[in-house]
Parts: sequence; C-alpha cells; structure tokens
Amino acid sequence: MGSEVGSRCGIGEAIPATVEAWALAYLRSTDLGHKLAPPAPPRAWEDAPPVRRMIRPGRPAELRPANRARRNPKPAGLHEPRLRARLLATLHHHELQAAELFLWALLAFPDTPRRFRQGLVAMAMEELVHARLYRERLEAQGAQLRDFEVRDWFWERVPTCPDATAYVALVGLGLEGGNLEHAARYARAFEVGGDPETAAVCRRVADDEERHVRFAARWFRRFTGRLDFASWRAALPPPLTPSVLASLPLAREARSRSGQDQAFLDELEAWCRARPGS
Ligand SMILES: [Fe+2]
Ligand SMILES: [Fe+2]
Repeated sequence: MGSEVGSRCGIGEAIPATVEAWALAYLRSTDLGHKLAPPAPPRAWEDAPPVRRMIRPGRPAELRPANRARRNPKPAGLHEPRLRARLLATLHHHELQAAELFLWALLAFPDTPRRFRQGLVAMAMEELVHARLYRERLEAQGAQLRDFEVRDWFWERVPTCPDATAYVALVGLGLEGGNLEHAARYARAFEVGGDPETAAVCRRVADDEERHVRFAARWFRRFTGRLDFASWRAALPPPLTPSVLASLPLAREARSRSGQDQAFLDELEAWCRARPGS
C-alpha cells in the first residue's frame, strides 16, 4: 500500500491517482488543513480494489483526544461564549468523523455499486463544509479547536459494521437520522442563547443532513428490498439500538421527507418511549 500513496499527502508527495488512494491519503493525514479542505478527488477509480477495513484516522495536533466522556453543555448555558465554543468543537468533530467514515466505507465496501461509492465521496465533501462552518463559528466565539478535547465516538463504533447494509443502517438512518433531532434543538438553543449566526449554520446543516438520510434510505431499500423499522433495527451492529440513535420528540417531518414512512416513525417513537436510553 505504501507505493500507491504515502502516509501523508503534503508538498513534494505524489498526488493520488485514484479515488481509493486519495481516500487513504485523506484518512491518514495528520494535517488539519488537509483534513478540512482536501484536494478534489481524482476521476479514476481502482479496477479491482481490495477490501480495506483496518484503517485508523490520522489526528492533527489541534485535535486533542479526551480521556473520558464529557457531557455536552445544556442548551440553557449557550448564552456563554465559552460553552457555545465547547459545543461547536464537539459538532465540528462529529462532522469531521462523518467525512472520514464516508471515505472509510468506500474503502471497506469496494463491492458496492460505483454510484453508491460516488455518493459517499460527495457527502464526505459536504460534511467538510459543515466542519468548516462550525470551526468558523467556534473562532467567532474567540476560541480555537485546540482549546477543547474531542472523542472519536463514531470511529469506536462504525467500523464494527460488517457490510454496507449495516453501514447505511447505522450511519445514515441512525446517526444522521438522529442528527435531524439534534440540529433542530441546537438551532433553537443558539437562537435563544443570542447567537443567530450559529443557529443559521445548524439549520443549514440540518437541510443537508435530510438529503444524507434520504441517500441512506434509498440504498438500504436497494440492498435489502425494504425499509421498515424491524429490518432497520435488525441491521444495526450490536450493542447499538434505536433508543441511542433517536430522541423524542422525533423530527417527524424531516424524517419523513428523508424517506422514513409513518409506520416506521410510529414504531421508532413507540420503541424510544418503551426503552428510553437502552
Ligand atoms: Fe454533516
Ligand atoms: Fe451527513
């Protein structure tokens, strides 16, 4: 693998010739500038790419790993710039991990249709737009990324997906579906906290995430022949359950625009009521 791309992709190193090599270089990079604004992907794809699952992301020095979990600031605290900045550092890291894990998936599931993998690349680039927007808002509070610790929570879980069906179940329908609830809640909280610019960023992100959930719904149906609550739940890699991936009240309108029908939403709501937090 060393000959197709170096462990970093900086000045003086070869420009990756294929999307796969470009994705590997991106994942392994330890340069924040590269992580947030990589070069455009090449047009060429490998002819017969192998399965590449054993990849860990490079971490720039600005992203300091946390040794323990910390709770996000409560919405009521968002009138304080420091707490706003802390939440924005977390949201930034979610977006960065989402971008990385879309590119991880194109390497891990090379037997999926090319159109699916092209969609993963396009969504990775959108996640980086979100990350840059959150970083701008963080710096507008007078803070820097390195001021806060971050956790690779998604990286600890998503690579357990055995196949592309589990991947779209967990990432698209699960984490990004749940983000439809979070983004709306954060937008309101920033608005109330006196930061309408960040509220507007949250709403913009939520609009894009609807499309990402729709992408997952379309491909889940294509991979399995259906999209109902029972088949989604069965596809989630243990120990993840619907209650971890959704919060009440559900963003029913946004979820239904994203392809989850009323029966799906009724069952999801009933599940979350009956098993809160499990
Ligand atoms: Fe995003
Ligand atoms: Fe997304």
